[in-house]
Amino acid sequence: CGIVGVTGKENATEILLNGLKKLEYRGYDSAGIYVNDQKGNGYLVKEKGRIEDLRAAVGPAVKGTTGIGHTRWATHGAPSQANAHPQASADGRFYLVHNGMIGNFRQLKQEYLADTKFVSETDTEVIVQLISHFVNEGMETKEAFTHVLSLIDKTSSYAFLLMDKTQTNTLFVAKKKSPLLIGVGDGFNVVCSDAMVMLSETHDFIELTDGDVVTVTPSAVEIEDKDGNQVERNQFHVDDDATASEKGAYDFFMLKEIDEQPAVIRGLQQTYIAQDGSIKVDKKLMDAMDKADRLYIVAAGTSYNAGLVGKNIFEKIAGIPTEVHIASEFGYNMPLLSEKPLFIFLTQSGETADSREVLAKVNELGYESLTITNVPNSTLSREATYTMLLNAGPEIAVASTKAYTAQIAAETILAKGLGMIKGTKQATEFDTGFELTKAANAIQSLVDQKDIVEDLAKKYLETTRNAFYIGRGIDYQTAIEAALKLKEVSYVQTEGFASGELKHGTISLIEDKTPVIAIITDQKTASLTRSNEQEVISRGANVINIVSENLATDGDQIVLPEVHQLLTPLAAIIPAQLLAYYTSKERGYDVDKPRNLAKSVTVE
Ligand code: G6P
Repeated sequence: CGIVGVTGKENATEILLNGLKKLEYRGYDSAGIYVNDQKGNGYLVKEKGRIEDLRAAVGPAVKGTTGIGHTRWATHGAPSQANAHPQASADGRFYLVHNGMIGNFRQLKQEYLADTKFVSETDTEVIVQLISHFVNEGMETKEAFTHVLSLIDKTSSYAFLLMDKTQTNTLFVAKKKSPLLIGVGDGFNVVCSDAMVMLSETHDFIELTDGDVVTVTPSAVEIEDKDGNQVERNQFHVDDDATASEKGAYDFFMLKEIDEQPAVIRGLQQTYIAQDGSIKVDKKLMDAMDKADRLYIVAAGTSYNAGLVGKNIFEKIAGIPTEVHIASEFGYNMPLLSEKPLFIFLTQSGETADSREVLAKVNELGYESLTITNVPNSTLSREATYTMLLNAGPEIAVASTKAYTAQIAAETILAKGLGMIKGTKQATEFDTGFELTKAANAIQSLVDQKDIVEDLAKKYLETTRNAFYIGRGIDYQTAIEAALKLKEVSYVQTEGFASGELKHGTISLIEDKTPVIAIITDQKTASLTRSNEQEVISRGANVINIVSENLATDGDQIVLPEVHQLLTPLAAIIPAQLLAYYTSKERGYDVDKPRNLAKSVTVE
């Protein structure tokens, strides 16, 4: 979910709606705003659906100088108008938006609010009703707010923005785990989950710390830390994002972002590879990597899949043992760590709560960490020891494409840098600039062959219920990401499978015409995967190949131009991204915003 707030601006409604539009990457199943004017007139508007639906529901009368807004990715309670935020107290005095989850909301409801009528199923409503409850018992608003915060259990996370109708110029703010920033203006102030969404108003931000309770008015930002002491927190400056986030001639961002991949890889080369081929990365980071005896890559979703590919690259080029972990698993079931671990967080957005939770624990344990992200100043970037930026430009489509390939390219650059320090033979022989250029050219040639892929999507995937991607070794890693792409945007149930393992059970799912897409780039296992293809063909499957030039045969296939063996995922994923795109488009779905998903999931 994403939240915004503003106080001290004539056009508060517009600022909230524009901010929410930019926050849609955090969820887009329902949204709402509450604004009030100086006279104390308040307006609450909520809608199921996208920000555009909310905008359409906001009438011209909805005007004010102070307000809060929320775009939701449902946790407690289905997407609906009633469950959308802001949630209000029964007497209509208090309005609350919330990003996060309250672990003990049922207990709180039972203990204090047994007689209160609830209109939503949200944990957030319990909090706002509870604030109202304590105010009715005689507390001041701020006191009630702070008191309720003290009743919330440890497992919970929140970024709260509260308004009290009787205090027309004040936002009450609190934060724990979920990120929240105050944007500082001249005669006004804003609050937001992500600085990027408020750059039209200000470039100066204050980052809040867990436990902070803040009172924001047009002229002041008063911060109390978790012990109730008045504190000052440092401001930081955020520059404009130069890259346009416009679709231009494209129907969907996903295709635009697929097409941008060669340029993104070239951009990374320019930033991180010097003329003489040496790696230009923060020396302290390289030293930290060199001191480590093992790398732990932690990530979610597509970024996790980029980590799977990275493991192979780090181990082969830099000779360092590398583990890859799903963030939501690692946080609560940490494996036995090596003596000198270094943590690498892969995260497009830098905001994923699952990854953030692990980073918080890693920081507590006192280990160093690197965040590889596309978003400067994002939470995981701010909280890690080191940051490496992908500079891929905003990735708007929910299904990640260019961040995946950029992450693999970044891992390659780091592996080379580390391998050179360690003096591995593989690193010395690996010409990063040359190999990445070759990969970028291969991607260019693949995105130029869209019609072949579009035809294959129409022929095999348009109506199928399920599908498989299979491969061995590094092709298996690509198959996992390829399958995720297809399922998330086209809703075809797809598995990425180790091709040799299929026969040990899962082959029973193969029916007449089940599409099986084999990725074959490795000479040493190609004939084995070909045999596995025969096994599924005998059982009725339709087989498509994504195959390296030197291993191509006949049949329906997409041929990959030659790239270095370690970098074949950079090429092989491209047809898979395009297959997913065309299948979704053919089926008439909103390719950029698949159902049930959010670009960045900010709850655990
Ligand atoms: C969400 C998105 C995925 C993404 C994952 C991790 O679930 O829908 O596309 O891969 O989060 O996001 P991150 O920003 O941490 O890479």
